[in-house]
Amino acid sequence: MTKLRVGLLFGGRSGEHEVSISSARAIASALSADQNTAKYEILPFYIQKDGRWLAGDTPQQVLKSGTPQQLPDSTTPSTHSESSVAKTQTLSRWQSPSQVAEVDVWFPILHGPNGEDGTIQGLLTLMQVPFVGSGVLGSALGMDKIVMKTVFAQAGLPQVKYKALNRGQIWSNPCVFPKLCDEIEATLGYPCFVKPANLGSSVGIAKVRSRQELEAALDNAASYDRKIIVEAGVVARELECAVLGNDSPKASVVGEITYNAEFYDYETKYTEGKADLLIPAPVPEAVTRQIQEMALQAFAAVDAAGLARVDFFYVEATGEVFINEINTFPGFTATSMYPLLWAHSGVSFAELVDKLIQLALERHSAFPTRE
Ligand SMILES: Nc1ncnc2c1ncn2[C@@H]1O[C@H](COP(=O)(O)OP(=O)(O)O)[C@@H](O)[C@H]1O
Ligand SMILES: [Mg+2]
Repeated sequence: MTKLRVGLLFGGRSGEHEVSISSARAIASALSADQNTAKYEILPFYIQKDGRWLAGDTPQQVLKSGTPQQLPDSTTPSTHSESSVAKTQTLSRWQSPSQVAEVDVWFPILHGPNGEDGTIQGLLTLMQVPFVGSGVLGSALGMDKIVMKTVFAQAGLPQVKYKALNRGQIWSNPCVFPKLCDEIEATLGYPCFVKPANLGSSVGIAKVRSRQELEAALDNAASYDRKIIVEAGVVARELECAVLGNDSPKASVVGEITYNAEFYDYETKYTEGKADLLIPAPVPEAVTRQIQEMALQAFAAVDAAGLARVDFFYVEATGEVFINEINTFPGFTATSMYPLLWAHSGVSFAELVDKLIQLALERHSAFPTRE
């Protein structure tokens, strides 16, 4: 049997570069395990932090060591200006390694901007080769918290109150900014959460309790993104549900994240032992069912495909459930919530990656020129 060549695309230009490497290592080993060895051949492609794609030995080394690499840029002509601007421009230019042509199906294991946001999906669609996960629209809608919320509202999914802002308003003249803060205080109150609209991993997010903190958080969030969202804070348990499939997706068991911190911030997310995953979540059966249903509605609302993890706030005191966000390429390490939720739902890690590739092929064969 000829093996299907799977292009593992990992690393990338987002703040989640390291997480992507961990996810890729786990997926690579699952593709070499059990029944997958006979079916798939792995062709790894590593995207350096500067955006350059590498094939061949370097991606293999990164997969083996688990640490990022940055090859010196051989394309920078030494006669050019040595200014950092000139150098950065040369480094970030995208080139396609020749091995790209050998790939039968892509597995873009990239989290956050420039990977989970429709950019890579657009490129892969133009290549006319199947790929795992959502297409351009689903990925883009799942990345931008403001547009995502607009779509969820349209689908009738309950959410916390929020206000969308742009950098121009935050960095506007001193007459406008105080009015903006007054409005946030009047409509959302404290504590509220200030977030850049297009990041991930809690980067740039702040929980604020006073005018002073609000002003500082808005200014900080505006340094990360043109678009900023402020949300009313809720005291809630955090529940997550995994979705798998294309047109008839299935929802997994529900999991809970517990931690000892102000909120699920970057440090809590990525420091070993700071958060615990409870699977299945110890919540009433009706809450589980409601979350599974809402997860499937959210998946359909943003036009996701293949996989997604949908995150919720469960306010135990009132029984309310609010959708927080959908992640169209959730963390995929051996200890990540997404594969663990499926493991508890009867789908092993190796079966999961196999299924995702089959879903990519199925989607592509239905509409080969449009993902
Ligand atoms: N409105 C809110 N109320 C309470 N906690 C929140 C709220 N929004 C965010 N948080 C906390 O911040 C964390 C990160 O926010 P989230 O919107 O999920 O950003 P990211 O996309 O970076 O994961 C959440 O997991 C939660 O702990
Ligand atoms: Mg989140």
